[in-house]
Amino acid sequence: MNRTRSFLASFLFFVPTIFLVVSRGIGDEKASSANVFEQRILPIFKSDEPSSCVQCHLAGVDLKNYIRPSSEETFRSLRDQGLVNLDQPEKSKILTLINMKDTDNPGANLLHAKSRDAEATAFAEWLRLCCRDPKLRNAPKLSPVELAKPSRPNEVIRFARTDRLLESFEQNIWGQRHRCMGCHTEGSEQNRKLVEKNGDQVSWMKKSAAETMTYLIRTKHLIDSDNPEKSLLLLKPLKEVEHGGGKKFLKGDLGYKGYRQWIEDYSKVVSDEYAKSSDLPKTDRKRLREFSSDLWFKLANPPQDWDEKLLQVTVYRWDDRAKKWESSPIAISDRQASAKFKTWQHTVTLLAEPNSKRAAEWQRSAALAPGKYLVKVHVDRNGRLLDDWKAEMRDEDFVGQAEFQGDWRPGYGAMTVVEAAKIRK
Ligand code: HEC
Ligand code: HEC
Repeated sequence: MNRTRSFLASFLFFVPTIFLVVSRGIGDEKASSANVFEQRILPIFKSDEPSSCVQCHLAGVDLKNYIRPSSEETFRSLRDQGLVNLDQPEKSKILTLINMKDTDNPGANLLHAKSRDAEATAFAEWLRLCCRDPKLRNAPKLSPVELAKPSRPNEVIRFARTDRLLESFEQNIWGQRHRCMGCHTEGSEQNRKLVEKNGDQVSWMKKSAAETMTYLIRTKHLIDSDNPEKSLLLLKPLKEVEHGGGKKFLKGDLGYKGYRQWIEDYSKVVSDEYAKSSDLPKTDRKRLREFSSDLWFKLANPPQDWDEKLLQVTVYRWDDRAKKWESSPIAISDRQASAKFKTWQHTVTLLAEPNSKRAAEWQRSAALAPGKYLVKVHVDRNGRLLDDWKAEMRDEDFVGQAEFQGDWRPGYGAMTVVEAAKIRK
């Protein structure tokens, strides 16, 4: 009897409670998906701060693009674009986008960890609640104009990614880094002395291309994306503003061209200048890849009429099997010639077909085998390249060529030398 009564009592007590919990449960979740949206997602939409997407997307897309002013419309918009997995909301594509991490640059992941975690937990919680609500799940489709999404097409979004920009950085700047690295690479002997005298900002060049690019982008004073040619990264080595390293660029030399090209590329991307895929520059797939080296080449005793002119050497390798010179140059370099100091000397940048065996080897270590080589020399006698940084050397600038035996031992003390008098047409 006692047991029956207590059973009844608990039954009477529990049933309404269960009923209450269940009915309040549905109401709660409806209310709370809207609450979570209002408290944790809408602030992302309203904030002036960029979302974690900027770690990899410099322009073209942001988490804000996917958010509409109400919870319900945002959910329907994401659902209609296939970004929500209704049955396993934790596997939704929008969460994959938020949780993208950089495999090459863990440092950048850390920088964005806080905003990413906040976005990810807010979206996961909100989606979980939305997906349990049959009314939301089955709400009618939005019309295409009501969908919230980036205004730029996928091609533009891809182009504005940091990994694409890093490729451009490796191609344009990293292959020319020998012009600056002695003084500017963080931790080198020379660098440590200069840091002591001038401060930490001298160490803008880091161990890898990715770290260096990230530093240059974050350290806003070195790049002027509104006036690319006024960037300190160009003005200092041009000595248009005082530079502790002296004049390291001539406007129009390969170093200036590379740095300027990348700064222009970066500036157009962050200024969101590309709207349609047809606005994007054509990529030159045949362009040779550049590799910075510690191999020095010297033309001894240049004639008076080359004095102070920009001089470019291109080096070709003898192909012993085909019994002819290779058709593409294997190395290139340029710099001002000096008759007074009786020399033109510089490190060479090695050139290889993209994705070739050579390119893979030089990625590890840039070296040239000893053997028979040909050097072609061009001199910018009229200052044409200095007037137009995009101009290239032409046939009329060709002053001659010479065959030579190159042993290409690395280092300043082991230069490969050719007498300028041997350069003939
Ligand atoms: C760690 C780097 C990284 C982060 C952070 C990142 N993405 Fe991406 N995103 C990529 C990569 C890489 C691709 C190309 C994926 C592919 O090709 O499969 C991509 C592609 C995309 C695309 C599709 C365009 C295409 O290439 O097909 C969209 C849209 C997108 N991301 C949006 C976002 C949004 C929104 C965020 C922030 C919530 C974000 N991404 C955060 C690296 C990232
Ligand atoms: C011989 C050493 C040396 C070489 C080589 C050199 N620099 Fe410098 N650079 C310095 C010194 C010293 C400073 C610090 C004093 C100053 O700001 O001028 C400096 C400062 C700079 C700064 C200012 C950094 C900042 O955040 O304030 C930039 C930019 C720069 N150099 C660019 C270059 C570039 C680009 C090259 C290669 C083309 C280069 N430098 C080659 C010695 C050098």
